This record gives sequence, structure tokens and C-alpha cells, in this order.
Amino acid sequence: MSAHGAPEPMISRPCGPLNGTATVPGDKSISHRSLILGALSVGRTEITGLLEGQDVLDTAKAMEAFGAKVERVGDGAWHVDGVGVGGFAEPDQIIDCGNSGTGVRLIMGAMATCPITATFTGDASLNKRPMARVTDPLALFGAQTVGRSGGRLPMTLVGARDPIPVEYVVPVPSAQVKSAVLLAGLNAPGQTVVIEKEATRDHTERMLSGFGAEIAVEDTPEGRRITLTGRPELRPQAIVVPRDPSSAAFPVCAALIVPGSDVLVPGIGLNPTRNGLFTTLREMGADLTYENERIEGGEPVADLRARYSDAMQGIEVPPERAASMIDEYPILSVVASFASGETVMRGVAELRVKESDRIAAMADGLRANGVTVEDGDDWWVVTGCGAGNVPGGGTAITHLDHRIAMSFLVLGMAAKAPVTVDDGGPIVTSFPIFTGLMEALGADLGAA
Ligand code: S3P
Repeated sequence: MSAHGAPEPMISRPCGPLNGTATVPGDKSISHRSLILGALSVGRTEITGLLEGQDVLDTAKAMEAFGAKVERVGDGAWHVDGVGVGGFAEPDQIIDCGNSGTGVRLIMGAMATCPITATFTGDASLNKRPMARVTDPLALFGAQTVGRSGGRLPMTLVGARDPIPVEYVVPVPSAQVKSAVLLAGLNAPGQTVVIEKEATRDHTERMLSGFGAEIAVEDTPEGRRITLTGRPELRPQAIVVPRDPSSAAFPVCAALIVPGSDVLVPGIGLNPTRNGLFTTLREMGADLTYENERIEGGEPVADLRARYSDAMQGIEVPPERAASMIDEYPILSVVASFASGETVMRGVAELRVKESDRIAAMADGLRANGVTVEDGDDWWVVTGCGAGNVPGGGTAITHLDHRIAMSFLVLGMAAKAPVTVDDGGPIVTSFPIFTGLMEALGADLGAA
């Protein structure tokens, strides 16, 4: 079901070759951060290419509730007039972050060192997800929270009046936790240090530096050590949001498995903390090339060209690559179903606490469509059927998870029989133009 609506069942039928150019929307992670850092600067930040998906729109609304002026001035073009570090006003309404773990966790971080109180909630998916991973470090700054059992939303956060800087070793590989601590550190005096054992997406560090904060990153024996000097005056920026590699993954993977396809996906962010899927696909034998590699807005970018690949082999995905493709395991498991042999995915316990338990959701849906999957706490293995040999014909339950819905719709494009998803509504959270874009390439999608 979409944030507040009725379930929208969808069907994807086997289709002819996918051809053409797929222009996907802006990066979701960078879009959230642009709005939040814009709100924490003094003056006007101008953003182009913002993802206008529901998750990001919820963050825009939240920034207004905290006192920033946020205005849509054109397609993907937004202005944010910020209130400055420490300048958040107390919202007079509950902050509803919808489906977005990134939205709620980053915003909680940003307000945790302001002397105000706010209450956060979300949809049925977000209200099941663990928040202690952010409230524990935020407590070290002096913030207090009261939530539901298991540290879940709805939750009230009382920001620290006299915040103290912290040194925190992030216990799980999570860019959201790292970012929450850094954003809290902005309004703490002195230096806040975050250490992550495994590198996760680094958009917050890059953007803080772009906004003029003093931030240093060192590789040490304990991991990546990030030191942020508190209470900077953030300078507003002009931000061009690169296109989202996590959304590009869907047309790219569809092209690899639908016979005869040749699809160009231009202007995709290839930040090394995000590009693990594309590396993995190439190791599996995918015909995936990077054209016109360049730097845009401080991020490496390329045009991706994906062509039908009928001889992909399953591989063991290196666990140390997991953070750089954490959102892409669902669609990788679809490609793995069309490869030969086993694709082994280990070190991925985090998949169990995303918008859904993504290992369970994908394993159940793949089995319903004739694919063999084994799974354990932090691993799963897909046994490929080989190109053209996935039976399909089943229904997948999406559990309010956009990436599960899109993954199974892609499966249906190349399976022998149509694939149904119980609810395509959540797709609007990250990729609102998914259906039209895939249909324009040649997909056969519809309401079920
Ligand atoms: C995100 C971090 C990742 C990712 C999410 C976006 C971010 O979550 O799954 O879609 O923008 O920081 P975790 O921090 O939970 O790994």
C-alpha cells in the first residue's frame, strides 16, 4: 500500500526487447541530505535534479516544520532558505517521515543537539524498524527519547540543551547512523568523531565539506575515522543531484535479462561507496559498460549501457562489498535467477531491517516463481535457472517495500509466465516514474 492508500496490485508480463534511453531520477540519499544541509545553512541553497519521490517530499515537509523555507521552483528544482546550525524551531505538529528510514534517522540527528522537542512517526513499515541504532549515540550528546517498545516509532526526541561532542564507533555498517551522529555533531562544541569499521556511502561527509564544515577523514587500523568540528557556519550551495544508481539498477538489470535488449542509462552516480552492484554484474559476465565517465557536482558519473547477457554465471559476492550495494541485493537476486549456478550473498544481516526483511521477502517471492533460494540469518543463496528459464507465474508480497515491488516486476519481464506483486504503491517513495519509464523501453506492466 502506498503511504496511506489502498494496495495497488500490479502485473508484469514477459516482454520483447527493451530498447532506448532510461533517464532515472535524482539520487535519494543525496536528495535528503541536500534538503537537510540546506535547512542548516544561513541563506538560500538551490537544488536541481532533486528526487521528487515521497520519501524526499516528506523530508522537505519536515524541514519546513523545523523552520526552513522550502520551495519547489520547477521540475526537480528546489530552493531551501535555511535557519543555520542550531537554528531549528520546535515543530507544532508530529513529523511524519512516511516510509523513510533515511529521512527520520538523519532528521533526528540534525535536531538532537537543538534545545527543542519533536515527535516522529512513519508508516507501518517504518514504525517497525529499529531506532535504537540512532537514539543510543544521540543520548551521548545529551538528547533523550521516549518511544515504543523495542525503540520503535512513534517516538519523542528531546534535544540536548547543552550538547557535548562524542566519539562513537558505529556498531553496524550504516550510513544513516554515521550521518545522524555527524549531523548532531554540527551543533555540539568541539570535535565529534565517528569511526566506521566498514566504509558506507559518504555523501554526508562530501556534502558537509562542500557546505564549508571542517571535516577530516582518515583511514586508521580501527576503520574510517571522521572528525567534524562543531558549530560551523554552513554556506548555502548550488547542488546538482546526480541520478540514482539504486534506481538505475532496475532498467540496467532488466536489460541484462530480457532477450535482445540494449538500454542506455545516462548520468549515473558511480561513487565507489555505491557502485558495488555494477562491479558484481560485470564479474558475473554482464554486458555492462561505462561510457562518457566524468565528474559532476563532486561525484563520479557515467552513462551506463546494458545489453542482454545470456551467459551470466553466479558468483560469491565478497561480503566486504555489501555496504556499497546494500539496496541492490533484491534486484541482484533477480539477475542471479537468470544466471547459471549459485549466487552466494553473505554478510548481509542488515537486509533484514530495511523497509522489509528483504532476504525473507525476496526468498519467498522467488520461490513462488519457481526459483530455488536458501537463506540464513545473514546470508542467502540463489540457484540460477539459466537465461530464459525462470518459470514465473507467482505472486510476490512486497511488505510496503518499493525495491521488492520493482524487483519482481523486473523478474516478470523475462520470466516464462507473468509475475504479480500484491502492491506497487510503495514505488512512489523512490522511483515515481518507474512504470512509465519501463513501459517506454518496452515493458508490459499493468494493474492486476
Ligand atoms: C542510506 C543508507 C542505507 C540505505 C538507505 C539509504 C542513506 O541504509 O539502505 O536506502 O541515505 O544513508 P543504512 O544506513 O541502514 O545501511
